[in-house]
Amino acid sequence: MTNLPDPVFYPPFLITRASHVRLTSRDIKASRDFYTSLLGMIVSDETADACYLRAAEEAGHHSLVLQQCAPDAEPECTAIGMRVLTEAELDKAAVWLLGRNLPVEWVELPHQGRTLRTRDAVGVPVELCATMDVVDRRFGDLNAPAAYAKRLDHYQLFTPDALGHTEFYAKLGFRIADAMFVGDDLEGTFLWRKGNTHDLVLFSGTGPKLHHFAYTVSEPAQVLRACDKAGDLGLGHTIERGPGRHPLDGALYVYFRDPDGHRVELFDGHYQTIDAELDPHVVQVKDNPQPWGLPGQRSWYFEASPFQGAPQTDPAIARTAPTLEDYLDRVNAEKGI
Ligand SMILES: [Fe+2]
Repeated sequence: MTNLPDPVFYPPFLITRASHVRLTSRDIKASRDFYTSLLGMIVSDETADACYLRAAEEAGHHSLVLQQCAPDAEPECTAIGMRVLTEAELDKAAVWLLGRNLPVEWVELPHQGRTLRTRDAVGVPVELCATMDVVDRRFGDLNAPAAYAKRLDHYQLFTPDALGHTEFYAKLGFRIADAMFVGDDLEGTFLWRKGNTHDLVLFSGTGPKLHHFAYTVSEPAQVLRACDKAGDLGLGHTIERGPGRHPLDGALYVYFRDPDGHRVELFDGHYQTIDAELDPHVVQVKDNPQPWGLPGQRSWYFEASPFQGAPQTDPAIARTAPTLEDYLDRVNAEKGI
C-alpha cells in the first residue's frame, strides 16, 4: 500500500483554516438569490459585478465571493482561500513558495488584508491572507429568513495526483484524518489544519477541479429543513445528493448545485482531531459504503468546477464509482426489467 506522508507539526508557515472561495457566475443576481434565500447567507457587500457573502456565524467579511463572468463563459473557481495566523506568516510563505519555483503574487483585494496569490503543486489557485474586515456575527438573528449555513468548513478537490498533492499539503502542516484506498492505490485523503477532520479533501479524478465547498449547520434538523426550504422555493431540483450519512465521520449531509453548477454542501459537523498521537484512519473504499440511502448520481462523482487557468490532467488510474445509474441498471437487470 502507498506510504502516506508523515505529519509535520512545525510547518514552514502557519495556515490556520479554509477561509473563502471565489467563483465566477453567469448570472450573479440568480446566484446571489440562491445563496441568500436557500442557505440564508448574508450579503456583506456587493458591486455591479461582485457579491461578497458570509454565513451566519462568521465574523470575517466573506467566505464566498461571486464574480460576474460572460453569459456564455464556463463558470470557474478562481481561487480557494486559506487563512494564515498573522501577516508574518505571509512573508514566510513567499520565501517557501519561491524556493520551490511556485508563483508569488501580492494582490490588493477589497475587505482583505495583504494577500498572497499562488498555485499549489498541482496548479490550484490558492489565496493566502491573515485578516479580513470584521463584521457582525448573525447567528442570534431570529429574523433571518433561513440561516442554515453557519460557517465555511472545507473544500473538496479532484486531483490527478492524489499522493503528490497530499504530500505537498502535508509539508505545510496539513494532517491526514482519513485516507481511502482502492487496493494499494490512494483514492483520497481528508486533510486538516483547524482541528476537525478536514479543511481540504483531495480525491483522485480528472483535475484539478473544485468538487464542492461546504458549510456547517448547527444541528442535523437543519439539513432536512434546508431541503424543505429548497422545495418551498421551487429549488428542489438543485438537490443533487442526499440527504445522507457520510460513512467516515458520521455527518448528515446534502449537496446542492447552484445556478452555475457549482456544488455546495451543508452538513452537521465533524469530530475533533488535534491530538499528536492520532494516526490517519486508513480504509478501503469497498469496505466503507454509506450506511443507508441510494448511491450518488453519476454527476456527483464526475462533475466539478474547473479552476481558472489550470489545465486538466487525467489521473494515472481512471476513477470508477458506484453510481446511482449503475446501481439501478444492476437492480433492474436482476429483476428482468
Ligand atoms: Fe464535504
